[in-house]
Order: sequence, then C-alpha cells, then structure tokens
Amino acid sequence: MEVKKAVIPAAGFGTRFLPATKAQPKEMLPIINKPTIHFVVEEIIKSGIEDVLIVTGRGKRAIEDYFDKNVELEDHLRRIGKRDLLREMQELSDMVDIHYVRQKKQLGLGHAILCAERHIDGEPFAVLLGDTIVRSEVPCTKQGIELFRKYGGSMVGVERVKREDIERYGIVGGVRRGEVFEVDKLVEKPKPEEAPSNLGIIGRYVLTPTIFDALKETKEGIGGEIQLTDAISVLLGGEKVYAYEVAGSRYDIGNKLDYLRAVVEFGIRDEEIGEEFKRYLRGIIR
Ligand code: G1P
Repeated sequence: MEVKKAVIPAAGFGTRFLPATKAQPKEMLPIINKPTIHFVVEEIIKSGIEDVLIVTGRGKRAIEDYFDKNVELEDHLRRIGKRDLLREMQELSDMVDIHYVRQKKQLGLGHAILCAERHIDGEPFAVLLGDTIVRSEVPCTKQGIELFRKYGGSMVGVERVKREDIERYGIVGGVRRGEVFEVDKLVEKPKPEEAPSNLGIIGRYVLTPTIFDALKETKEGIGGEIQLTDAISVLLGGEKVYAYEVAGSRYDIGNKLDYLRAVVEFGIRDEEIGEEFKRYLRGIIR
C-alpha cells in the first residue's frame, strides 16, 4: 500500500527550551528565518506526500497561522513592491494540504498519534516529529518509504547514539537484514546497561495502521505517558518491524547544542549570507 499521509505530532510543552517556548511552540523556533516545522513539511512534500495532519495542543495557534493565508500581509507586500517576498508567502500557504487535530490532554507521543486515527483511516502513514530536522540528499522520510515498500513492514528511523545519550532516546535492538535491522526489541529511554543496542530512534517512522490498535493496548510507560515506542513493541507480536539507519544530519531543535549546530550548518550553506558567515566563523575560531 502507498504511503500518502503524514502526521506531525507538535503538541509537546517544549520544556527543554524554556523560556523561549513559554509563549511559542518549539516547532516555530527559527533556523535563521524559517521555522523548524517548515523544514519538516518540506521533507514531507519532497517525499511525495501531499496530505499532512498536524497534532497540536494548547498554545500552538502560531503553527496554524504560519501555514494559513495572510491577506493583509500579502496586500502590504504588494503595496510596497516586495514581489519576491509576496510570492514566497503565497507559495507557503499553498504548499500542501494541511489538516489539524487537537490533542486535548498531553498524555504523550503515543497518545498524540492515536489522535490521528480517524484522519489516517486504515492506511500506512509517515510520522515526523515536528521538532526534528534532517538534512540529507534523499529526504529522510523518502528513505523510510522506499524501504517500507521493499520490506513490507513498519520502518523506524534510527541513528547510533553515544552511550551517555542513550537515556534520551527510544532504543531498538535487532538483527541486520540487508539495508535494515529486523527489530526484536524496543525500549523507551533505557539505562545504558539495559539498552539492547545504541540505535536511537530519531523521530521518523513509517507505520502500518495496526499501530492504532497497539496504541489502545499500550499502558502508561516511562514518565507516565503513552509511549509510541511501547506501542511499536506491541506490534512485534503480530508483524515485522524494521529499523533503518538514516543517511543525513539530524538536529533535535529542542536540544540547545543541536539547535546551534543547525543554525551554523544552515548558515554556512545559506545562499545570501553563507560566504560572509564562514569568513566570520574563521575569524573568531583560533
Ligand atoms: C521521543 C521518542 C523517543 C525518540 C525521541 C527522538 O522522545 O519517544 O523514542 O528517541 O523522541 O527525539 P522525546 O524526545 O519526545 O522525549
């Protein structure tokens, strides 16, 4: 079955990036002049998906406004002759078909995905965490979709993580099968000594719709939340699940160091300011 829909859970509090996230969602934190979630939506489009569902929560209005048409702003840009910016704003609101559903209680990532059940309507779908950007030649979700087609089971994007970081991730264990791992274990945020490997889940998934039944069976896990990782473990009882090592650079924007890496790495590649920014960096690093 084709993967035609994507879900972006974007309902979390963003506690790791307070106070910046007190009055704006972390998904709106900009990398230079583009909010994080814009990169995520671009990845979806480049992966061939045209239907996006964003799971929002309290205080996430800015996301809806961002992708909406702003007639007053467009009129203003037209009046002052900023044609390029006007075109950019029009393209932004026409980007893709975006739907919203509200997660009324913050019961965790798994619960956020469960809120997408009706919209997904029995099809396989992609999940992209709204606070994670992956810079890669082949869009990260496209990599997952191609492998999903080839292996015919849910695909979880992973990356090798340092031992001291294992407790920040969902970790998968499995056996190598060609380009993927056949998963036999998933643990959300384990202690390093209890982790089945160092393959950390990075926030890109292609899932079969059976995940919704699995989520309904999933009890509160670590942190008192319904964890998506635990629901994928439930899936293992009835179908195969695979993990693929993502080719690309990943930035978890809620993490201060990753945020800075993203700004610097996108900065040096920026068409307008890249060269000057590189000269500046060379000048300050001795
Ligand atoms: C979530 C997932 C976790 C994954 C992580 C990646 O955790 O539950 O499995 O490794 O995203 O960023 P969170 O960071 O929301 O606590």
